[in-house]
Amino acid sequence: MSPALAWPAEAIWEAVAPRLPGFTIEVLPELDSTNSELMRRARAGQADPVLLVAQRQTAGRGRLGRAWQAEPGASLTFSLGLPLAPADWSGLSLAVGVAVAECLEPRIGLKWPNDLWVDGRKLGGILVETASLNAEPNPGAARYTVIGIGLNLAARAGEGLSTPPAALRELWPGAQAGEVLLRVAPVLVEAVLDFQAMGFEAFRARYEARDLLRGRAVTLSDGSAGTALGVTGHGGLLVHTASGVSTVTSAEVSVRPA
Ligand code: BTN
Repeated sequence: MSPALAWPAEAIWEAVAPRLPGFTIEVLPELDSTNSELMRRARAGQADPVLLVAQRQTAGRGRLGRAWQAEPGASLTFSLGLPLAPADWSGLSLAVGVAVAECLEPRIGLKWPNDLWVDGRKLGGILVETASLNAEPNPGAARYTVIGIGLNLAARAGEGLSTPPAALRELWPGAQAGEVLLRVAPVLVEAVLDFQAMGFEAFRARYEARDLLRGRAVTLSDGSAGTALGVTGHGGLLVHTASGVSTVTSAEVSVRPA
């Protein structure tokens, strides 16, 4: 079977296109990064909704400038790109995490702001980036939004990582990239459209049901430490520190259980 035929592209298109006019799906054998490719296209004026899948990424990217390592066949790496104009952008990656976790497995938890975890190990991550669609963007204008998702399907050596990664096949034996994508893509699109209409508040209770940090001691990358108290209606992390309760919103802050 050729690699393209292993992907249920038509079934995904049929499930998504009615909600997203102009939607296309593309599966490529190799790219530097599906996020980088969609950001380049957006900057070149291509703003149609697209689901871009790479069977191999040569320069996959994670949050905070980190690399995202994934082995072909042992992972699913894709990005959804579409114009979005929510009234408030905060909490988008958390809403995406809720949707992906819910459609895959009850045991998947969420570690603020954008990690999917199982049994104390990272299963996947989400990288949201946006590009302006207008030369002179005004507040409230639509931005091209690229939502990149990487999921580990099979176990791999966790060399260099303090905690070895988790794999979806521990929960869903034999899970194949194509069937996982068919399950995730329509739910993801629905969640993103709900987020655009209603913001993070519509996802907050569902986030709380999977919040792995709530009640736990955490250390922030700025050196401060405290106890995570949950998330705000805008997706910020509430942390009780020695100086009181503060809301962590910065994308430049990473959090780890202490
Ligand atoms: C993170 O955990 O820091 C986010 C990881 C996001 C990885 C995905 S894989 C598909 C898409 N393309 C990328 O280069 N990154 C995202």
